[in-house]
Amino acid sequence: MDRRSFLKSTAVLAAGTAFTDAALAQEGAAPQEKAEPRMPAKLITSAPMLQNYAETSMGVAFTVSALASGYVIYGRQSDLSDGVKVKCGGYRVTDLNSDVMLIRLTGLEPATKYYYRIGADCINYVHGHRMMILGTEEDPRIYSFTTAGKDAKAHFCVINDTHKSDPVFDRLTEKIAAIAPSCVVWNGDTMSHAEDIETLKETLFYPEIKIRDYASETPYLLSCGNHDVRGLAARHYERAWMFRQPEERSSRDWDLGRCFAVRMGDVAMIGLDTGEDKVDTNPIFCNLFNSEPYREAQAKWLEDALRRPEIASAPYIVAFCHIPLHDADPAANPGDIHPADKDPRYRLDYAEWQRYCYQLWGPLLENAGCQLLVCGHTHTYRRDDPCEAHSWTMLVGGGPSLDSETDFATVIEGKVEGGRLDVTVHNAATGKVVDSVSIAPRKKRSVPKIRR
Ligand SMILES: [Fe+2]
Ligand SMILES: [Fe+2]
Repeated sequence: MDRRSFLKSTAVLAAGTAFTDAALAQEGAAPQEKAEPRMPAKLITSAPMLQNYAETSMGVAFTVSALASGYVIYGRQSDLSDGVKVKCGGYRVTDLNSDVMLIRLTGLEPATKYYYRIGADCINYVHGHRMMILGTEEDPRIYSFTTAGKDAKAHFCVINDTHKSDPVFDRLTEKIAAIAPSCVVWNGDTMSHAEDIETLKETLFYPEIKIRDYASETPYLLSCGNHDVRGLAARHYERAWMFRQPEERSSRDWDLGRCFAVRMGDVAMIGLDTGEDKVDTNPIFCNLFNSEPYREAQAKWLEDALRRPEIASAPYIVAFCHIPLHDADPAANPGDIHPADKDPRYRLDYAEWQRYCYQLWGPLLENAGCQLLVCGHTHTYRRDDPCEAHSWTMLVGGGPSLDSETDFATVIEGKVEGGRLDVTVHNAATGKVVDSVSIAPRKKRSVPKIRR
């Protein structure tokens, strides 16, 4: 900037300051506070996490140490010479907070590789007329991701019930890195409860694990578990793990920001949220949960999602939800025992499976020809083969343990190869394969007729 331009800019700034000071004085506003704001030594405090893998959009999230407004520069060129900057937040104003920056990239091409870099402006905010950028920090590393879509590689991993156990998560992420899937489904109970956002940040952005950038190039999808809504911060988990973009669902499904129906190669991936494992009337939760209408709303969403051409035409339909949708054991609590989940017929006073979800969603998944359902919640790996109650194979992932013979942590890997969906269940503690299933493609691939 030459001297003349500098003086002009300074004059404009000074005039603006005088205007705002005068206006505020007239309004009786408090005088400007004396403070010496400083840019922190490290503003960006985590590697980026890719959230909500999809065909034409991708979420990028990272943490900051001070009030900031984050952004992503992304493009098709590996040096970002074609880079486009996308700010956090929505239209009109950006987001501004000191915890998690959430940036959603939209309008992307399916099955396409993109490169990106993260950055943030550190903001000193005094009031609505006075704020300044203290400094800008950009992560020097250029990362990459590939979007979902019909031409994407059909290869996924599923983890569940990590319950904020860093040793378990360390082992799981190492296994996932070795497998190198197209995406990972985190199938609920990421932690046990979160009363503050710091707990969510520790869970997602800086767990004590070796691979700190575990989700910077491998996108994640989330199917919430019952524990993921427990705690004051968990009730607004979307502050750390963003909802899908509003334009990615209909206005009727406005609040279903977590459900997903994504085509990845030959696989259609369907994500549902089974909600709490206690009934809404259970007095221990003081009427603070509303799972039943949530499950009903998801049935409407699911019916439409299964009719979408890219889903209905997929050779494989795989659904993910945290609480199992069936249990042949008559002593297993079905999660619909009002008013307080207690009944002498059942060994536990909370849901081991979700009968209401099974009644709502089961016929839709059956009619659509869903071949595989992956769940968690019980902390013990099991496989339920197709039976009279369901024609899908149901896999229930293991628990947050590395030394148990029954509750061992699992990575469930699905990969389409040679005209089959091959599913392999890895024990994350021992590295051994504990089970495998090979699934044939669906014969009928048309828009399903819905029977209620
Ligand atoms: Fe759990
Ligand atoms: Fe659970």
